[in-house]
Amino acid sequence: AKILVLHGPNLNLLGAREPEIYGHTTLADINAALAARAREAGHELAWYQSNAEHELIGRIHQARDEQVATILFNPGAFTHTSIALRDALAAVAIPFVEVHLSNVHAREPFRRHSYLADIAVGVICGFGPDSYRLALEAALSRLERTAA
Ligand code: DQA
Repeated sequence: AKILVLHGPNLNLLGAREPEIYGHTTLADINAALAARAREAGHELAWYQSNAEHELIGRIHQARDEQVATILFNPGAFTHTSIALRDALAAVAIPFVEVHLSNVHAREPFRRHSYLADIAVGVICGFGPDSYRLALEAALSRLERTAA
């Protein structure tokens, strides 16, 4: 199956950006590890990062045309602001896992609310780069269950 990993704003700076919060691992490292794991499990993984809300929306629409089976999405700060991304995910009806490196519940109060979490399959946050790895494992076992 096709798996799409979507990264929102500022995640291109991962590794250099507030390392005390987000760690030293780069986005390229994360994507490479996810792609290798997906391949090993017999799936195809693509990734996309954008700082622009409309580009993320466009990529979500494209995912429907490509028959993407599942999305792992770290929407960055759009998590806390974007009804448009919520509507895009609802429109394509592709199951997705919301991912955050940091524990958004242990930070500023405005990070506690997500416009996406209640329509996600699940949310993983607080494990740094491992959040993505854990989200992929959850998506893989879910794909196995639903492909039967
Ligand atoms: C983030 C958490 C968001 O609150 C923040 O705006 C980000 C990154 C995370 O991965 O921890 O940009 O999504």
